[in-house]
Amino acid sequence: MKEKLDLIKNAALKKIDDAVSTAELNDVRVKYLGKSGEISMIMRDMANVPKEERPAMGKLVNELRFAVEGALSEKTEFLARKEEELRLKEEEIDVTLPVKGRKIGTLHPLTLIKRELIDIFVGMGFSVDEGPEIESDLFNFQLLNIPKDHPSRDMQDTFYINENVVLRTQTSAMQARIMTTTKPPIRVVVPGKVYRSDDDASHSPIFNQFEGLAIDKHITMGDLQGCLQTFAEKIFSKDTKVRLRPSYFPFTEPSVEVDVTCSMCHGKGCRVCKGTGWVEILGAGIVNPAVLDMCGIDSKQYSGFAFGFGIDRIAMIKYGIPNIKLLYENDMRFLKQFN
Ligand code: PHE
Repeated sequence: MKEKLDLIKNAALKKIDDAVSTAELNDVRVKYLGKSGEISMIMRDMANVPKEERPAMGKLVNELRFAVEGALSEKTEFLARKEEELRLKEEEIDVTLPVKGRKIGTLHPLTLIKRELIDIFVGMGFSVDEGPEIESDLFNFQLLNIPKDHPSRDMQDTFYINENVVLRTQTSAMQARIMTTTKPPIRVVVPGKVYRSDDDASHSPIFNQFEGLAIDKHITMGDLQGCLQTFAEKIFSKDTKVRLRPSYFPFTEPSVEVDVTCSMCHGKGCRVCKGTGWVEILGAGIVNPAVLDMCGIDSKQYSGFAFGFGIDRIAMIKYGIPNIKLLYENDMRFLKQFN
């Protein structure tokens, strides 16, 4: 009998030793200690063992059972721990891996410049206004001293909606609107879209202008020049110089065309300024007294200056953009560059 128990013990311990998973160990447990397991059967058979042999036999069987149970629980604990480690390793997440980049939009270069311009003029005490893009002939032309059939209308290729309504050709239309509704002193800038039937590398049928109007007692050309000098230094660079040349607009008298030293070559002469060192950026002048009177402001008491320029042109000069169309095509490769 003792040999038989030793054989069972050795076989069981070997199986436990060889097992590589808790599932396998469980099979071993069933085989020996389960309801009809080998060891359980032997214990059940004890009843048939002669009475005088029973204590010795019982002792041997119990030793066998404790040995197998002990080995099983030790190995189970060991394998369970290993399996847990493996599972944790498999489920591990590397939080240091780079995340998939999210695409973030950028502001359009015209929006960037517009905001910068507004900041500059608000800093000089101007307020900001906006007006309609579909405008009456009255504000776009007539109150600005451009009567119907006036030859200066040819300067602006107008989209007419009907005889008296146009797509505004200039934000100057807002000068007339503001002057007819506001009592001086007035200091206002007006950014906005304007439309002209014109189409080439530097002209788009839709573009953006920025208008300025200041009306008060004793406003002179000196005020205009100082204001534009500050503007040019802030939008381009501190060393930018401003030059006023005589010109003509029906609604300003005298009128000027304004150049700044080229921001690419700082006045030395380059491709952008066609070798002259200067680039033309805007039209301006002293508000024509006839316009003041037409709009209901007494030209004997008040005077003013006005200026207007293309936001597109400022963006093109500042960023070195060669073709105005780039600003309206919405090509992401182009737009992504302005962060
Ligand atoms: N409105 C003019 C243009 O579009 C520019 C301008 C504005 C000139 C204000 C003088 C004063 O060309």
